[in-house]
Amino acid sequence: MRVGLVHAASNAVGVAFYGVSFAARARGRFARGRLWGLAGLAAVSVGGAVGGHMAFRQASGANHAEHVAELLGDGWHPLGDLADFPVGAPVRGRLGEVPVIVVHESSGTVRVLADRCSHMGGPLSEGEVTDGCIRCPWHGSTFRLSDGWNTAGPATAAQPAFAIRITGTLIEARLQHLSDKVPPTAAASGEEDGW
Ligand code: FES
Repeated sequence: MRVGLVHAASNAVGVAFYGVSFAARARGRFARGRLWGLAGLAAVSVGGAVGGHMAFRQASGANHAEHVAELLGDGWHPLGDLADFPVGAPVRGRLGEVPVIVVHESSGTVRVLADRCSHMGGPLSEGEVTDGCIRCPWHGSTFRLSDGWNTAGPATAAQPAFAIRITGTLIEARLQHLSDKVPPTAAASGEEDGW
């Protein structure tokens, strides 16, 4: 937020300097107008550099998990056998090309999110599970396991979440869209189990 404030202030100062430059030129003081114009350029350059820092170093507003839909597409994908995912601990799995985190809850519900944190790509499977959420080990963003919603930043985007169906002991998953209406804990075999 502090960096964002500096970014906004620099740009505002730049606009103000350009305004003064315009007024000076309108009064025929071109040399003075040029100087104010250069001052404006310096201010927006600072704003641009700080904005670049926010976008590329701090990943403000960026979503490092948005490629999941392209990689996976729609439809069900095999995830593995239920026995591969012990109850409690987050386990890293794979859906096609997409690494995922699988949490087999004590209630029997299986939760699946994309493993690469939407903030800067940290491995959620190495994070800590508490109160139905996973906390990223890198910067502490917290995502709800049921739907991927980011309950705490710095991540500004939700984590892709997956619907689950279990046939026998085989778990399959498909990308869940936030607009889908799926009960968080449905019945077992052959039906969606959660998302
Ligand atoms: S990578 Fe920064 S919070 Fe996950």
